[in-house]
Amino acid sequence: MIAAERAYGQTRLGRIADIMLTGKHILLIISGGIAAYKSLDLIRRLREQGATITPVMTRAAEQFVTPLSVAALSGSKLYRDLFDLTDEAEMGHIQLSRSADLILVAPATGDLMARMAQGRADDLASTLLLATDTPVVIAPAMNVRMWDHPATQRNIKTLTDDGIAMLGPNEGDMACGEYGPGRMVEPMEIVQAVKRHFDSGPLVGRRIIITSGPTHEPIDPVRYIANRSSGAQGSALAEALSAKGAEVVFVTGPAEHAHPAGAQVVMVETAQQMLEAVQSALPADAAIFAAAVADWRIDDASDRKLKKTRDGLPALTFTENPDILATIAKSKNRPLLVVGFAAETDNVLAHAKAKRERKACDWIVANDVSPETGIMGGSENAVTLISEEGSETWPRMTKREVAKRIADRVAQALAE
Ligand code: CTP
Repeated sequence: MIAAERAYGQTRLGRIADIMLTGKHILLIISGGIAAYKSLDLIRRLREQGATITPVMTRAAEQFVTPLSVAALSGSKLYRDLFDLTDEAEMGHIQLSRSADLILVAPATGDLMARMAQGRADDLASTLLLATDTPVVIAPAMNVRMWDHPATQRNIKTLTDDGIAMLGPNEGDMACGEYGPGRMVEPMEIVQAVKRHFDSGPLVGRRIIITSGPTHEPIDPVRYIANRSSGAQGSALAEALSAKGAEVVFVTGPAEHAHPAGAQVVMVETAQQMLEAVQSALPADAAIFAAAVADWRIDDASDRKLKKTRDGLPALTFTENPDILATIAKSKNRPLLVVGFAAETDNVLAHAKAKRERKACDWIVANDVSPETGIMGGSENAVTLISEEGSETWPRMTKREVAKRIADRVAQALAE
């Protein structure tokens, strides 16, 4: 992983130079070593490539570079404290640790590596690293004797076995006057490694369309019909599939949830617009229909505000919206894999199985959206995956975890 990664990068440098980091969200943890000054340049270089940086500093890092410089260069909020209640209210440490596409630790000191290897959680940086399920890349920096020490070598082995990717360190003159391995790799080498990271994954070269959120069907210019979908499951799916290297087109109705990082976002309002957007995004390898599309629209929406009159209540007549999933699943340029969701409140499995047949999709992800489940608008989901082979019920988990599992299945299916 260490030297081999770098050699691999150099042979492919020409291609890697073309890949931008637009839409990629990197959580950058800066720990306290003299090499922290290079992190300032690293932030600039990563942002030049289009990456969004959320910085985290350890207390010791603040002895080497100022929080103000780090926050100013990253252009986003700097996180420093584990017990900062405002941050916990806005974004808890669990969410912070999982919201990024990649966690980069640069520099990673011998002390932070030791704490990571032990699974400690005694400050914000170590807690984020323990709580995350996002890939982690570290760029160690320390004195040569510290690097060579058997304790550090043991920690390196543990971290590598845990799946943490390590960049460097380089060999050379050190700030302490000694010579040897221990220098943090240069910012541009880190940028190249980050690009390489995003240029890998089982779904590289695959195009996937996702519909998400509710649709709004106008009654008149100020009123509309809507539903309670937040768009959380669709956004999580888009992020999980982009993280596996897919090119994701995210067609969303007016959703509350933040747009996913790393996807091409197409915003629509009505079901008809959503269908047109999906059709223009074709061809694709897979399409996942997570949107809660309104089944009906007002037949003849008024272009003027409806007023109260003495003649009684307005008579609204409805017409059926196109079924986007069924239209695409039955079309000539049908994606290889078509996945629908079935939001039900009764007879969940029976309805979902019938829906799979009726809409001609490969899989249906069924969930119970009865109010007592708290699923609609909540952060968790309990789903059953229904395919030709049968049905599989997954335990209740976060929508992000459901998304990751579905993304694994999509990658497997497209590889077959
Ligand atoms: N769907 C769609 N276009 C529609 C309605 C639904 O693409 N006009 C998709 C949804 O995105 C979801 C699946 O079809 O993937 C099932 O949606 P759901 O609302 O559960 O089903 P309905 O078609 O509304 O069926 P029913 O009224 O029987 O619940």
